Amino acid sequence: MSLRLGDEAPNFKAQTTIGDIDFHDYIKDSWVVFFSHPSDYTPVCTTELGRTAKLKSEFDKRGVKALALSVDNLEDHHNWVKDINETQDTTVNFPIVADVDRHISELYDMIHPNASATATVRSVFIIGPDKKIKLTLTYPASTGRNFDEILRVIDSLQLTADYSVATPADWKHGEDVIVVPAIKTEDIPAKFPKGFKEIKPYLRTTPQPNL
Ligand code: BEZ
Repeated sequence: MSLRLGDEAPNFKAQTTIGDIDFHDYIKDSWVVFFSHPSDYTPVCTTELGRTAKLKSEFDKRGVKALALSVDNLEDHHNWVKDINETQDTTVNFPIVADVDRHISELYDMIHPNASATATVRSVFIIGPDKKIKLTLTYPASTGRNFDEILRVIDSLQLTADYSVATPADWKHGEDVIVVPAIKTEDIPAKFPKGFKEIKPYLRTTPQPNL
């Protein structure tokens, strides 16, 4: 059964490059970006894990931990990490799960047989501190993920978790946001003292409230 937004992220125990983990203990009170890659020692994956390592300060700022996964074994992960560090000019600073028996990949529906019978696709699960799935992305092996987009959606998720707003197309941190339709226009000034614009009765914008 596939996982849907709002579902609890299933717990699992796993061998990783930092030792054995219990996923829910790993999440603890953080946000987590849990992502799979097709295979160690492949070029696109090398750039993706390098980019993730380089974004540590951005993830830390947002209270986010990264966790990578593939079906390769721990020895391959450790040896490949040396290549990532060397070629991407970084130090991998997050754990990589060795899902050799594929039980986690199957639990998270990360193997799409019509894409590859054996390797995981590029899945992303963004999980909140309540352990619920907030956002999922799925990319094919041939397309490396855009990590600016992953940071952008985390900004949107964290903002909209705390305020009655939604973020418009292409929104970036700092730009105006949309007041959700459930808020009556006459109630906006009290809730959003920075002001608002009514473009249509259903389209009201306000400056980002948490700045
Ligand atoms: C890559 O990471 O470069 C890759 C992995 C599997 C298939 C194609 C590309």
